[in-house]
Amino acid sequence: MGIQFDEKKRIFHLQAKDTSYVMEVVRDGFLIHLYWGKKINSYNQPNPVQLLDRGFSGNPYKEDRTFSLDTLPQEYPQFGNTDYRKPAYQIQLENGSTISDLRYTSHEVYRGKPKLEGMPATYANETEAETLAITMEDALTGLHVILNYTVFDQYNVITRSVRFINNGQESIKLLRALSSSIDFHDADFDFLHLHGAHNRERFIERAPLRPGIQSIESSRGASSHQHNPFFALLRKDATEFAGEVFGFNFVYSGNFLGQIEVDQFANSRVMMGINPFDFSWLLQPGDSFQTPEVVMVYSDSGLGDMSRTYHDLYREHLLRGQHKQKERPILVNNWEATYFDFNEEKILDIAKTGKELGMELFVLDDGWFGKRDDDTTSLGDWIVDQRKLPNGLNTLANQINDMGMQFGLWFEPEMISVESDLYREHPDWCLHVPGRNRSESRNQLVLDLSRDDVCEEITKQISNILASAPITYVKWDMNRHMTEVGSALLPAERQRETAHRYMLNLYKMLEEITTNFPHILFESCSGGGGRFDPGMLYYMPQTWTSDNTDAVSRLKIQYGTSLVYPIVTIGAHVSAVPNHQVHRITSLKMRGDVAMSGNFGYELDLTKMTTEEKEIVKEQTAHYKKIRKLVQYGDFYRLLSPFEGNDTAWLFTNKEKSEAIVSYYRVLAEPAAPTKVLKLDGIDVTKQYQLVGTDKIFGGDELTYVGINIPIELEGDFQSYVWHFQAI
Ligand code: DGJ
Repeated sequence: MGIQFDEKKRIFHLQAKDTSYVMEVVRDGFLIHLYWGKKINSYNQPNPVQLLDRGFSGNPYKEDRTFSLDTLPQEYPQFGNTDYRKPAYQIQLENGSTISDLRYTSHEVYRGKPKLEGMPATYANETEAETLAITMEDALTGLHVILNYTVFDQYNVITRSVRFINNGQESIKLLRALSSSIDFHDADFDFLHLHGAHNRERFIERAPLRPGIQSIESSRGASSHQHNPFFALLRKDATEFAGEVFGFNFVYSGNFLGQIEVDQFANSRVMMGINPFDFSWLLQPGDSFQTPEVVMVYSDSGLGDMSRTYHDLYREHLLRGQHKQKERPILVNNWEATYFDFNEEKILDIAKTGKELGMELFVLDDGWFGKRDDDTTSLGDWIVDQRKLPNGLNTLANQINDMGMQFGLWFEPEMISVESDLYREHPDWCLHVPGRNRSESRNQLVLDLSRDDVCEEITKQISNILASAPITYVKWDMNRHMTEVGSALLPAERQRETAHRYMLNLYKMLEEITTNFPHILFESCSGGGGRFDPGMLYYMPQTWTSDNTDAVSRLKIQYGTSLVYPIVTIGAHVSAVPNHQVHRITSLKMRGDVAMSGNFGYELDLTKMTTEEKEIVKEQTAHYKKIRKLVQYGDFYRLLSPFEGNDTAWLFTNKEKSEAIVSYYRVLAEPAAPTKVLKLDGIDVTKQYQLVGTDKIFGGDELTYVGINIPIELEGDFQSYVWHFQAI
């Protein structure tokens, strides 16, 4: 177990729980990739690299026409000396040249996992993980590149990140600095990724790899709704339940690139990191640059197993703080109930009704500050609007506390409205480029968080509010992407650092605020799920999954999100019908059943519900409290995919497999529909299970191999059905 180095053969063998990863140092210091997959006991070179003299692949050693970087499977490929594929990094020297030549010089192995300075990352102590730091050097410039690999003892997980240190005499500009790169020896994979748009986040796409480059990326200044910083390579026969899967997830919330290049000899170069587009970073002598981390998961048991590895890892080794393992409160949020149009009385009415119906936390959304009656004003002026809340936040929060409800508050700290006191005072505090238009989006500009003075002022304002009232929850929103990315304080040669500096300072702000207010549960949001990434989860242990609250749309959104992110992080609310985003009418039951498969809450005017509806809601909150631990912290098994048909099903169970909740959803009623059986997965085939509320008992083997009937009584569109099993 752990990390071994064979001095004689110069081979590194990394072993995580059931995974091996093998590299070799060849010739005078090239680091090559040999294997990543199912664990092997020892590596005795069954697949040494086979070198051939290939046309148009040049040779660093004149005398050896078979040796070319163009055909060598590498660990951190460079540009400019015979490899024509895309490199993992690229530098520019003072003389304008852009090539470099890294060679292995030394390595270190130690227990545990060092913190990534100023950046989110998974964490582990000496009993949980081992780290390998390989130093590569470019002799001409004195550039040192440290490749960090951490293997987790209990998970099939290897994390990678890179540190650049300029130990030379001249400045070096990083033009590209990715966090990981692997050259797989074939291209016999499918490429799976999560794409989307605002209101349609994380839809699954799976397609065979083809020759050439295929990639996902964001250059929007956020990880984005459009592409999640995750992808997986699947063997052709891999399914949800079986087969080899290689997952890659970037622990970063800004611009990223995930890229696969299938080369002329059908090798696949797989890389991930900060998007090199419009990025550079200047390293003066002595300076260093740390890349964010990539979390790589291997599974030989399908996508479901890969997801459960990510879920376990992130719940235990990414989420932090007091709420990490706590059951999360059922909240009611006033956004879809009132939008900007509310007053104290209305808020108290909703909160009071929420309390009566079993909710635990009231969240006051957008519109409580400045003069914000719509989305055209006030971002940056974090002062309570006395017109709407004449008695202030403290009185309001106390009144809500007195009802027995916690109080939460919405912020959008990274933004500025042109129509705001802050903008009138500091027009240069937004991202902008001299002489260029400042493009607005949702009537707002992005604050230049690459500036320390801006961050300090905003941190102060937010902290003042948080200290002014008994606030136990914060929704941290971010509702536009970056344009005209430039900073008034950075010199010309550092303008392309702006977006990454923004991210680093945002993380710094989040670290400070979450540390100073450790009792507050933070939920990140970006127009719903536009920044659903592990970077944000490190600071804020749950995310508003999507602004789309329609139960049918949510099947795909939540299913796709669950590929990587733990259920406890997936905010899911019941909202009104007709739904405000897609105008669909679904039953309160289905809306509840879908939302109860996540981190549960409500987002509608509860005071307008009928007595009958209120009774259903009461039952839902009571039921969720019973199953909450299982849903939020249990193991999640996807059974039927909404991307493959009309039916969706999933299952929650605990590690002991003593209880299971199975949810089934049918979107449209079908004429002359066949009767259907649902086979379970994830339960113990040797156990007996009672169907809760009945005297029916089934073997786990029956439920798994034979399956249960989907009730024929389900009539009409948008149906759901839930089974609850207890082992006896
Ligand atoms: C976008 C969020 O996703 C919504 O839930 C809501 O908070 C609005 N912003 C408020 O402006």
